[in-house]
Amino acid sequence: MARVIVFGSLNMDLTIEADRMPVGGETLTGRGFFTNPGGKGANQAVAAAKLGADTAMVGAVGQDSFGDELVAGLAAAGADASGIARPAHVPTGIAMIVRTQGENRIILDPGANHVLRLPEVRAELDRLAQPGDLFVTQLECDHATTFAALAEAHSRGLYTVFNPAPAVPVPGAVWPAVDLLCLNETETQIITGTLPEDEESIARAAAWFAERRVDPVVVTLGARGSVILHDGAVTEVPAYRVEVADTTAAGDTFIGALAARLAAGAAVEEAARYASAAAALATTKLGAQQSVPTADEVAAFLAS
Ligand code: RIB
Repeated sequence: MARVIVFGSLNMDLTIEADRMPVGGETLTGRGFFTNPGGKGANQAVAAAKLGADTAMVGAVGQDSFGDELVAGLAAAGADASGIARPAHVPTGIAMIVRTQGENRIILDPGANHVLRLPEVRAELDRLAQPGDLFVTQLECDHATTFAALAEAHSRGLYTVFNPAPAVPVPGAVWPAVDLLCLNETETQIITGTLPEDEESIARAAAWFAERRVDPVVVTLGARGSVILHDGAVTEVPAYRVEVADTTAAGDTFIGALAARLAAGAAVEEAARYASAAAALATTKLGAQQSVPTADEVAAFLAS
């Protein structure tokens, strides 16, 4: 089985629920405050590990208690956290999350997530990666490092999975290093200029990716499921209907699950169907990493 190597962010999530967002100058009383290990990279690594993949993470946290908790969270999920740097004088990244009526609003302070540069990532790839392994990354670390790391991983024969989140327009030179792109509808809009909301707009976004030879592409559409754009075809993957408590990390669970199944040799469509079930289960619980299901929970859900 191939290994999943995630280069990405680790954040401590500080999360609270409110009926609505406060307006400028207003103080609102909320409820249900908790802290929970998160960060897109760490969530994806935890999901891949909990869903059965041999997983290692490359990233950075500060020398503080949030950093300790994040490293412990990875280890508890079964991921190799030996590639997490602990630079001095820089705090662990945090995410302030306000949950309002099933929606999240997030403000990030990246902290240590922006410290690593290509030489450090390269050194971790030397230690952890073999050709044929998966390399998964997002956009919560330094962008130039992330783009260079994608190129480095691709040139070493790793299968690169890019989740451009939070989205920014991506330089054209990055695409040749991307083996599989996975993004949601707003990320698709920022990158291609088209919001994929119906057959016609999905075809337009698909044409944009095809022009740049990005293939396959998995576009997640929330409660509407996802679509796979591959070899000129559009394949719909339906979503599972569940009672939603919190969507935090559902997208990350999808990507971690997708990577875990691909690493086990599954085809993209089969992997996306499994990822859809795992992501649905993640929405039924509050929080980021604490909401990621185990392989047994996904198996029981699929059998029900
Ligand atoms: O995708 C969810 C994640 O985004 C949260 O865990 C938060 O840390 C932010 O990075």
